[in-house]
Amino acid sequence: MTAVLPRSSVAVAPGRWTATRRHYLMCPPTYVAVDYAVNPWMVPSAPVDRHRARRQWETLRRTYCELGHRVSLLDPLPGLPDMVYTANGATVVDGVVLGARFRHPERAAEAAAHRDWFRTAGFTRVTEPVFVNEGEGDLLVAGDVVLAGTGFRTDPRAHTEATRVLGRSVVTLELVDPRYYHLDTALAVLDPTTIGYLPEAFTAASQSVLRERFPGAIVADPADAAVLGLNAVSDGRHVVLPAQASGLAAAPAGRGFVPIPELLKGGGGPKCCTLEVRA
Ligand code: ARG
Repeated sequence: MTAVLPRSSVAVAPGRWTATRRHYLMCPPTYVAVDYAVNPWMVPSAPVDRHRARRQWETLRRTYCELGHRVSLLDPLPGLPDMVYTANGATVVDGVVLGARFRHPERAAEAAAHRDWFRTAGFTRVTEPVFVNEGEGDLLVAGDVVLAGTGFRTDPRAHTEATRVLGRSVVTLELVDPRYYHLDTALAVLDPTTIGYLPEAFTAASQSVLRERFPGAIVADPADAAVLGLNAVSDGRHVVLPAQASGLAAAPAGRGFVPIPELLKGGGGPKCCTLEVRA
């Protein structure tokens, strides 16, 4: 396991990579647990060490702060052990909040907690969706479009709903491997026109869509994807990704490595713990 690199070693790449300051919503892993299994990563008999999870989560939060980003916190609620994965709670574009609707009843109540947070924070355009969508787990903003996953969680009808609510065109991508059940486990948006992804996680049709749209994409090594290395958060220049994904370290972008193995037990990496608030 690679240790957290000091701030000074977050590499900065030359060329067109430009960082922009982001606002992220995170939720402390106070009640994190694997009490149920809704993805193949979750093994309820394997205990989660909440103290370690908290320390690792703190490292992630601190990394964002050191990169100059703003981090807001959602209050954790007892009985919602997956609430630490805030990416699933909403999708926010230009101040418009498309709320989530979870596939599994165990996570259903997280959706209202997110909507309430946004309303309290002063967002006036907050929609409760009709169809199942698991927020930025499956809806990833890349420049002017939203890359939208389906196959395991988000209902394809939610893609049309996202277009209507967010006013962005949506590119539907179909996932086929249960380990990569959310789009953000198989594809990372690095800047508006650059992505990294694991082709095998998609249907042949979706692979051609991706090849055509992103000819310069970084094709991830299956070994990196298998430690959720694509569950990365980019500010356009610095890419924060799980420390275990050593191969992706060769990607042409600045990088920060954040080891959060306790949170991997729930099937999530850095991106899952991070919801971008695009005001
Ligand atoms: N245990 C959670 C679930 O399966 C993990 C969610 C991970 N989040 C993500 N954005 N991929 O729903």
